Amino acid sequence: MNWRELGFNYYKTAGNVRCIYRDGHWEEPFFTEDEYIDLHMAAACLHYGLDAFEGLKAFCGEDGRVRIFRVADNARRMQSSAERLCLPVPPVEMFVEACKEVVRRNSEFVPPYGTGASLYLRPMLFATKPCLGVRAVDEAMFVVFCSPVGPYYKDEVRPGRALLDLGCDRAAPLGTGDVKVGGNYASSIKAGDWARQEGYANVIFADSSERRYIEECMAANFFAIKGKSYITPKSTSILPSITNKSLCTLAGEMGLSVEIRRVSIDELAGFDEAGACGTAVTVAPISSITVAGEERTIDYGEKPGPVSMSLLKALQDIQYGRAEDRFGWMTEV
Ligand SMILES: Cc1ncc(COP(=O)(O)O)c(C=O)c1O
Repeated sequence: MNWRELGFNYYKTAGNVRCIYRDGHWEEPFFTEDEYIDLHMAAACLHYGLDAFEGLKAFCGEDGRVRIFRVADNARRMQSSAERLCLPVPPVEMFVEACKEVVRRNSEFVPPYGTGASLYLRPMLFATKPCLGVRAVDEAMFVVFCSPVGPYYKDEVRPGRALLDLGCDRAAPLGTGDVKVGGNYASSIKAGDWARQEGYANVIFADSSERRYIEECMAANFFAIKGKSYITPKSTSILPSITNKSLCTLAGEMGLSVEIRRVSIDELAGFDEAGACGTAVTVAPISSITVAGEERTIDYGEKPGPVSMSLLKALQDIQYGRAEDRFGWMTEV
């Protein structure tokens, strides 16, 4: 397997772990090689978007041991997604154990240390109950599958162009933007597709009530560096990124002040560095932001900024076991 060249795609592995919620309780989780799910055509997940998911990674460390990054945080985020959609809430313990079991059963798919690759885990929760009316359901399935994924940057880190799309709303202020549910992604697909065709690496969305503040990217949070500050938007409609939370901790440790606050579009020109952060990209520096429809581009340069690179290194050193896990982020499998 050429681990380094793997993209961010589904790759068939040994199997997945499933758990069914029925008659008021979670049944015993089981492992299966089956890649398909037998689903009733009236299942509420297919019609009303009653589905939530997560994304996290397992890494093979320098010492050859395999560890999952902040798995309990993903479990808690899935709990808030489930609560928001009135789906059965998976217990943290069940979520964590299922993730560990998937990694154990797919050990041959964990990319070796030094390749920059990792094993991506995709926990998902969806309503299986057949129904026609729009209402909360009491039958669901929880699945964790995995796929090895290559490093986001194959060689050196190259900042990408971003498009600030003021013509498309990702999430409403009191909608579902702060939880990880399918509908949020459905609403952003069109903007993402268009931006890709135009050669942008990412789309940034603004707040949907005033379109004056930066929210986040398609599948990543936004951050900026100004002098000795790490700045990231605060909003009721952005997903609380676990990567971003980690970068805030690491930035604080490096002596930066951490500002989690509203970030106005007018401020963009004053930032020294800008970037996207999330499980898939880790830290992806942004070379420029073009404001769609306004013919205005803010440049941050073709070289990645020094603070973004230090943060990326600090995070990856913990993930790959090169630095002490001083915040208790890693769960050994
Ligand atoms: C909309 C959105 N924002 C932010 C993130 C980054 O979150 P995390 O760092 O937990 O992967 C993701 C990816 O999960 C996402 O889909």
